[in-house]
Amino acid sequence: MAQNTLSITDNRTGKSYDVPVTDGTIKAMDLRQIKTGPEDFGLMTYDPAFMNTASCRSAITFIDGDRGILEYRGYPIEDIADKASFLEVAYLLFEGELPNKVQLEKWTDDIRRHTYVHTNVTKFLEGFRYDAHPMGVLLGAVGALSTFYPDAKDIGDPVNRYAQRVRLMAKFPTIAAFCFRHAHGLPYEFPRNDLGYIANFVNMTFSIGGKHEPNAVLQRALEILLILHADHEQNCSTSAVRAVGSSQVDPFSAVSAGIAALYGPLHGGANEAVLFMLDEIGTKDRVPAFVEKVKRGEGRLMGFGHRVYKSYDPRAKLIKKIADSVFEQTGLNPKLEVALELERIALKDEYFIQRKLYPNVDFYSGLIYQAMGYPTDYFTVLFALGRLPGWLAQWEEMLKDSEQKIARPRQIYTGHRKRKFVTADQRG
Ligand code: CMC
Repeated sequence: MAQNTLSITDNRTGKSYDVPVTDGTIKAMDLRQIKTGPEDFGLMTYDPAFMNTASCRSAITFIDGDRGILEYRGYPIEDIADKASFLEVAYLLFEGELPNKVQLEKWTDDIRRHTYVHTNVTKFLEGFRYDAHPMGVLLGAVGALSTFYPDAKDIGDPVNRYAQRVRLMAKFPTIAAFCFRHAHGLPYEFPRNDLGYIANFVNMTFSIGGKHEPNAVLQRALEILLILHADHEQNCSTSAVRAVGSSQVDPFSAVSAGIAALYGPLHGGANEAVLFMLDEIGTKDRVPAFVEKVKRGEGRLMGFGHRVYKSYDPRAKLIKKIADSVFEQTGLNPKLEVALELERIALKDEYFIQRKLYPNVDFYSGLIYQAMGYPTDYFTVLFALGRLPGWLAQWEEMLKDSEQKIARPRQIYTGHRKRKFVTADQRG
């Protein structure tokens, strides 16, 4: 018997099958041959929420959740966060290699040339209510870009895909900054192409009367935060981008699906939810009572737990370090005391230990964003800005993968069958 196989005996029929094992997986389609008879559809797997299903092969991001390891294209996140720029990381995710000097200059320059958005974008942004959630605005605006660039539909052409990638990378910060300005009732600040990627974004958000005093420490801290969010393999929003993109829609529409997924409180919306939670707790002395409430099943400890990490999220470790440099500039965020106490108590509590619940990327990031001057409902927009390269790299990889088809899961039907239709006047 071949070693790399799985032998399955179907006790319903007494038949045995050998199924190949490759990369620690069996192909779900190999189970289809297992039937009770010619009328039987064949065996399927049932895996709600994809708890144990690899949906693709990917060479972009490696995570070892038990050991707390995260690597982009083989480079440890700690080195990348320490040494790379956000645009270098984006290039690395797309191309698989770090850019040389010439490549980086071209990449940076291509993006710089596309930072402006069509003026009509500002017109439809004005249609949103003054209190519209910035993620809802971002979602709508990025999706709407597909109507400005109908050529983006030509997803089979790699040159065209590169052009749309550049457009998205360049215009996303502009739109994200416009979302910020809209919420503050401030006039839109247009891109300044003499500034770098991060500096330009910060200027577009905070400039008043055309002036903003840049703070290099805060800008680098923001850049590192974006780098830490740049990709995280097959998470909810990336899976959304891949699934929607698999229908061969344009990348603006596929990325807007990612934004929608990220909006949710169990995903990118968690950084916002952490701040609400810290507000609800209020003071350090009320932490033990809050933890008890969570343990009784009355809510979750937001910013804790992860589907993949069953140890300390390596990104959270790095973010804690950034917090120090940021708070040195801005003064301490008073909620930090509550967060530290919450972490201290949770990490020694049996409930959290048993379930391997540790702080994730969102636990401290919100505190930093708040200290930088971003409002709570804007945090997820910053997450989206960071995650964009990951979405685009995964979209590109999906399109080039000959094993991929339109995403279309199966179901186990649990409803009625063949019921007799009764007209409205006859129904009791
Ligand atoms: N607080 C309290 N209990 C929790 C938490 C939490 N944050 N997370 C999981 N649990 C418990 C859960 O109740 C369950 O307990 P039991 O076995 O008694 O029913 C057990 O731990 C396993 O939870 P699960 O829901 O099966 O785990 P999951 O892998 O489906 O969920 C998660 C992962 C991130 C959605 C979840 O941990 C969670 O809701 N965390 C809070 C929201 C959050 O911080 N999200 C950000 C994730 S990181 C950023 C990103 O990638 O988006």
